[in-house]
Amino acid sequence: KQKIILDCDPGHDDALAILLAAHHPTLELLAITTVAGNQSVLKTSQNALKVCSLANIRTVPVAMGMERPLLRPARFAPDIHGESGLDGPVLPEPTVSLASQHAVDLMIELLLQSDGDIILVATAPLTNIAYAMRREPAILPKIRGVSLMGGAIGLGNVTPSAEFNIWADPEAAAIVFGCGRPITMVPLEVTHQALATEAIFERLRSSQRMVATFAADLLTFFAESYRTAFGFVAPPVHDPCAVAAVIDPMLIATQLMSVCIETSGEWSSGRTVCDVYGKLQQPANAYVGHTLKVDRFWDLFIDTILTYA
Ligand code: BDR
Ligand code: CA
Repeated sequence: KQKIILDCDPGHDDALAILLAAHHPTLELLAITTVAGNQSVLKTSQNALKVCSLANIRTVPVAMGMERPLLRPARFAPDIHGESGLDGPVLPEPTVSLASQHAVDLMIELLLQSDGDIILVATAPLTNIAYAMRREPAILPKIRGVSLMGGAIGLGNVTPSAEFNIWADPEAAAIVFGCGRPITMVPLEVTHQALATEAIFERLRSSQRMVATFAADLLTFFAESYRTAFGFVAPPVHDPCAVAAVIDPMLIATQLMSVCIETSGEWSSGRTVCDVYGKLQQPANAYVGHTLKVDRFWDLFIDTILTYA
């Protein structure tokens, strides 16, 4: 099994990423770490615990991480995910509790103890991972790779140039993209191909299973946010794509290139500057996804969700 740590900010699509990561038979989910992003880290942590409780994920530690970006004030996304960070379905109070360790400590410990076989999957601002890399550089050679949902080759979603996860903490993103380990970047161009259409809703709902119904309920709220904010007919299911890229490396076609993070632009802060044509002649640092095998993605995702009660 491929060992992963999922660093997330649930978040509707993060919740779906947790469900995929915890039950796919080829993955071993070592920990869920949370960070400020879609909402405060207190809220995203609580949401992670609620999702784990509902889905009966009881053996994976959930550790709370950084409450604000490395240098900037925290900025959340209530317009997309609501005030709780996971608005929509009413969730019971969690029946699992937080790990006592800080997310960054847990990440460092797991990596140092490992045989170098852990992939970090990030579906949130990169604050925890960047901080861990700076605090304990000995983890670097231990990281097999990073698969992250973030950035865009072209247009952003929170500003015209920047995608939310990178925009929220560009300095952290710059550290991660500069870490020297293999990075797979799953940008908006890919996740906007993973659209939860009516047919997808039907596949989830017709199963009449509790967790599949929960997934559909999350997507119902998310669909409304995306209709209002972007005029999307069907919502893009971003974060599970970064997990799926680890499960099935052929699922997303990528191009190896140099990616720089804009940290100082007046209009373009948080932009992932993707050197598609090699104009800057800098060493490549990321496999940038561009094309998703859509049907294969949905089969993989739904088949896994249907393994829950
Ligand atoms: C990313 O931003 C968040 O709102 C989502 O959870 C996803 O990780 C998409 O830009
Ligand atoms: Ca997220």
